[in-house]
Amino acid sequence: MTTTPSSRSSSSDAAEMFLRDFHNNGPGRQSVNTERAPLADGRTSYQVLAAEVAGARRVLDLGCADGALLEVLAAAGAEELAGIDLADQELALARMRPALTCADLRQGRAQELPFADNSFDAVVSHMALMLMHDVDRIAAEAARVLAPGGRLAVAVGGGAVDGQAMSLFLTLARPYFKAASPERSMPRLGDGRARSREGLDELFGPAGFAPVSWDTVVIDMGGTPEQVWDSTTEAFYDMGVLDPEQTASLRAEFLAAAPALLDTDGRIPSGMRLNIATTRLLPTHHGAN
Ligand SMILES: C[S@@+](CC[C@H](N)C(=O)[O-])C[C@H]1O[C@@H](n2cnc3c(N)ncnc32)[C@H](O)[C@@H]1O
Repeated sequence: MTTTPSSRSSSSDAAEMFLRDFHNNGPGRQSVNTERAPLADGRTSYQVLAAEVAGARRVLDLGCADGALLEVLAAAGAEELAGIDLADQELALARMRPALTCADLRQGRAQELPFADNSFDAVVSHMALMLMHDVDRIAAEAARVLAPGGRLAVAVGGGAVDGQAMSLFLTLARPYFKAASPERSMPRLGDGRARSREGLDELFGPAGFAPVSWDTVVIDMGGTPEQVWDSTTEAFYDMGVLDPEQTASLRAEFLAAAPALLDTDGRIPSGMRLNIATTRLLPTHHGAN
C-alpha cells in the first residue's frame, strides 16, 4: 500500500492506529497486489529485496504483514526469520505459511524492537518504512539488533510512471482526495525523508550506517482498465477518505479516460517505481547506540 507523501507534523499514534485498523480489517492485500505486479524480468519486488541480502542467515522484516517477503527469504536460504508488524491479523496469516512455522513473529512497533542486540545479519522492509514515524528511532533500533557489518535493505514507494494508468489515476483522484469530508480524513503517514536517497542517508547515517546504494525498479500493474482500477485503488490508503458516491464518480472518470492508453493487446500500462536502498552497519559505530 502507498499514500501521497506527507510532512512530519502528524501524530504517530493516530497514524499507527489507522494503519493497524486498516490492516487488521483487510490483511493480505499488499502481498496479493505485489505478487501480481512483477518487474520486466519477471521477478517480484520481494525477490528483488531478498536478493539484496542474499546469504544472510538471520533476517528481520520491519512491517512484515502477512509474511510474503519472509517466505521468499526462507526459500532463498535464510534460516532464522523474524518479523514485526502493528497488525495481528496480518501476522495471523503469516503464521499460516508452512515456511514460517519457526519464524519469530511479533506484534509491535519497529520503533521498539523486542529483539536482542546483535541478533540479525540483515534487516529488511518492503513498502513499509515510508509509512512509519520516528524513523531515526527505527534506524537506531535496526543498528542495535544487527551484527557488525549487518545489512539493511528497504523498498520504498517511488511514485507512478508518467503517461501510464497510475499517473492518470492520481491526476483524477487528487481533487477527490482534497475534497473529502473532514470526518473521513485520514492521518498523515510517515516521514518524507524515508522516500529519498538523501533523506535515508540523513536518517541512517547517525545510526551508524554507510551511505545507501540506490536502485529504482518499475513494477507492472497493467491490465484491463477494470483490473487496473482494482489494483490501483487497493494500493492507495487515501481511497478510504472517499464516500461511495465519490468512489463511483472517480471510477467512472477513470474508466472513461483509461481506454486512451490501451495498447494493441487490450491492456493499459500502469507502472509504479520502487526505490531500493541498501546499506551496511559500519563496524566502527556498532554498539554506540
Ligand atoms: C503497505 S504494508 C506492507 C506490508 C509488507 N511489508 C509487504 O510489502 O507485503 C505496511 C505494513 O507496515 C506495518 N507497519 C506500519 N507502521 C509500522 C510500525 N511502526 N511498526 C511495525 N509495523 C508497521 C503495517 O501494519 C503494514 O502491515
